[in-house]
Amino acid sequence: MRRPLIAGNWKMNLNHLEAIAVTQKLAYSLEERDFDAVDVAIFPPFTDLRSVQTLVDGDRLRISYGAQDVSPEKSGAFTGDISASMLKKLDCTYVIVGHSERRAIHGESDELLNRKLRAVLNSEMHPIFCIGEALEIRESGQHVSYVVDQLRNGLKGLHKPDLKKIIFAYEPVWAIGTGKTATPEDAQEVCAAIRKELIKIGSEEISQNARILYGGSVKSANIVEIMKQADVDGALVGGASLEPEEFARICKFHRVI
Ligand code: 13P
Repeated sequence: MRRPLIAGNWKMNLNHLEAIAVTQKLAYSLEERDFDAVDVAIFPPFTDLRSVQTLVDGDRLRISYGAQDVSPEKSGAFTGDISASMLKKLDCTYVIVGHSERRAIHGESDELLNRKLRAVLNSEMHPIFCIGEALEIRESGQHVSYVVDQLRNGLKGLHKPDLKKIIFAYEPVWAIGTGKTATPEDAQEVCAAIRKELIKIGSEEISQNARILYGGSVKSANIVEIMKQADVDGALVGGASLEPEEFARICKFHRVI
């Protein structure tokens, strides 16, 4: 059985003081039975991570956290960048790699993302590798082959022990921040295709154990139907993760399934 993961990507929102307040509220809005059933993770901006670490450690919260991006380089003259080993030192469990906003705004290529995946894996964290198509591709009906290509290109040359550690997130660009959610069937179609491709890239076992998340306008009103899909193992939540009560309601989806 794959354990569900509900991940909150805060993007460029909440300073370190706000991060402490939101994380505390989230922790108090959830009960032990929620943490027993679901992995809950938050992805604050870099400048919040140390504060979140101190709070999670100090209060022994059952919330894990990670970074939204990472440099592919180990160290050196890369002004403004943050290395995987720095994130590991802050006890990050996960790092998001290849979010569509990084691909679109910063022009991140499949080759670069492959290097970032390797950097995260070399520092013994779990990448959350994001893939997803833009609206034109969806409308042309090419979305499945497009996403499968992104998957293959991103994972090029990675070995099975590393493939096992990667979490996948299908985030159709047209559903991000638009209030336009993919239907549960849309999410299932692509998540199933990702799982099928993982048999070829990795193995049957890797495919069966891989956690595949859906992201794009997830909220408490639609999480249950999304989580009912056979190949969807969790959600990568943007806007709704900034409201701790709403994010907690999303994490409680398991109470009704
Ligand atoms: P929204 O939930 O705001 O649509 O964002 C989704 C997302 O990009 C999560 O990474």
